[in-house]
Amino acid sequence: MSRLNAWPPTQPPGPTPPGGSSASAEIARGKPPMFNDLEPCLMPIVERPPVAMTRGEGSYLWDADGRRYLDFIQGWAVNALGHAPPEVSGVIAAQAHRLLTASPALHNDQAPRLARRLCDLSGLAAACFTNSGAEATEVAIKIARKWGRLYRQGAFEIITTEDAFHGRTLAAMAASGKPGWDTLFPPYPPGFLRVPFGDPRAVRQAIGPRTAAVLVEPIQGEAGVIVPPAGYLRELRDLADAAGVLLMLDEVQTGIGRTGLLFAHQYEAVRPDVMTLGKGLGGGVPVGAVLVSANANCLSNGEHGGTYHGNPLACAAGLAVLDVVAEEAFLSRVRELGEELRVALQRIGSDTGGVVRGRGLLWALELREARAQAIRDRCFASGLVVNAARPNVVRLMPSLRVTSAEIAAAAAILASAIRATMTAPATADAACSDPPDPTSLLLPHPRDERCTRSVPGGAAL
Ligand SMILES: Cc1ncc(COP(=O)(O)O)c(C=O)c1O
Repeated sequence: MSRLNAWPPTQPPGPTPPGGSSASAEIARGKPPMFNDLEPCLMPIVERPPVAMTRGEGSYLWDADGRRYLDFIQGWAVNALGHAPPEVSGVIAAQAHRLLTASPALHNDQAPRLARRLCDLSGLAAACFTNSGAEATEVAIKIARKWGRLYRQGAFEIITTEDAFHGRTLAAMAASGKPGWDTLFPPYPPGFLRVPFGDPRAVRQAIGPRTAAVLVEPIQGEAGVIVPPAGYLRELRDLADAAGVLLMLDEVQTGIGRTGLLFAHQYEAVRPDVMTLGKGLGGGVPVGAVLVSANANCLSNGEHGGTYHGNPLACAAGLAVLDVVAEEAFLSRVRELGEELRVALQRIGSDTGGVVRGRGLLWALELREARAQAIRDRCFASGLVVNAARPNVVRLMPSLRVTSAEIAAAAAILASAIRATMTAPATADAACSDPPDPTSLLLPHPRDERCTRSVPGGAAL
């Protein structure tokens, strides 16, 4: 049996040892005991380092052995207010004692309040809730198709962009442009037309009688924080208006203050017809949302739904997050902190030939070489969690409440990891072959064998 997330991932294939598969032998050799017992029961769909996180507070995570990590991915931009924010945990504890879930067939007292708050904040007319960002994409696709059938002579096609990321359900994958996905699970649902990101002329050329909608991210997060040219969303808005098609914005990653305004499209003073939200909205509790203009509010009874949609626990969390994030003083602090992170990354970039991109507290450093995973691994070994969004791109998405001191600490570890990685030979184990990083936040650990190899997990970290 070959395991996609066998540890270490670079183990060359070899003969099966007596008494077990080579994968289980790898696990037995490299993993702490709990993983030997428990991890084989997880489907091998995500590579992860062999540590289990057990506690979080603000910008920090702790693993089962008490190691502390400065977390600059925050659940992939999910924990808008950091780990275990008291405003959210207090509200969900109280809500859990009152009502966890009623039924999607019954109103509860939280979902309509969250819908109202999101409509007021976005200027859109109505909202529905989902469990995830991918599911919000599904709803957006349904809206485009229904709307095209009702108002545009059966138009059903959605123009999307290369390198886009809209989630991992089949239709969301079809809408995405992630390299390598096209061949994974064909056949995909048809009806998507991909054009280069950041190029309004390509959208203009692609719009035709079958087009129902244009779907883009204001900034492409998973692609490595690709910021389109200024005016892109404004031009797409004008094109959509002129052609009579919907403009749908995926703000799952960029929304809820991540870029320094509540929604990233507000930088261009445009309003979409459909907006998807997720991640930061629940502050760590799974919830997604789709907001529509009055014109796009076309789904009827029974055309979408789900057992947990709009459950009071998730919606109470969403309201608690918005109470903090939607305040202008909070957003202005996000912009200031974002500027500090940009300056710190810029310094690292100019020392190492890297390019810095991003906005607010969503940043990427594109490296000269494809060594992002080794850098991520070295950072992890030094107590900093970052993401290798692409082979040559390190991405950072700290808590929106990150402090200046935490930014400085993260930048010091990252700079040192980049220097060490760029001068080390390009092997998978290079990450930990040097003496420990003097900027490490980690206390010495009795079982430091984990720092003698690189940490896997392009997807995980
Ligand atoms: C822009 C964007 N859309 C959709 C999704 C999918 O969200 P989820 O993982 O909650 O399904 C993501 C996740 O990274 C995303 O970044």
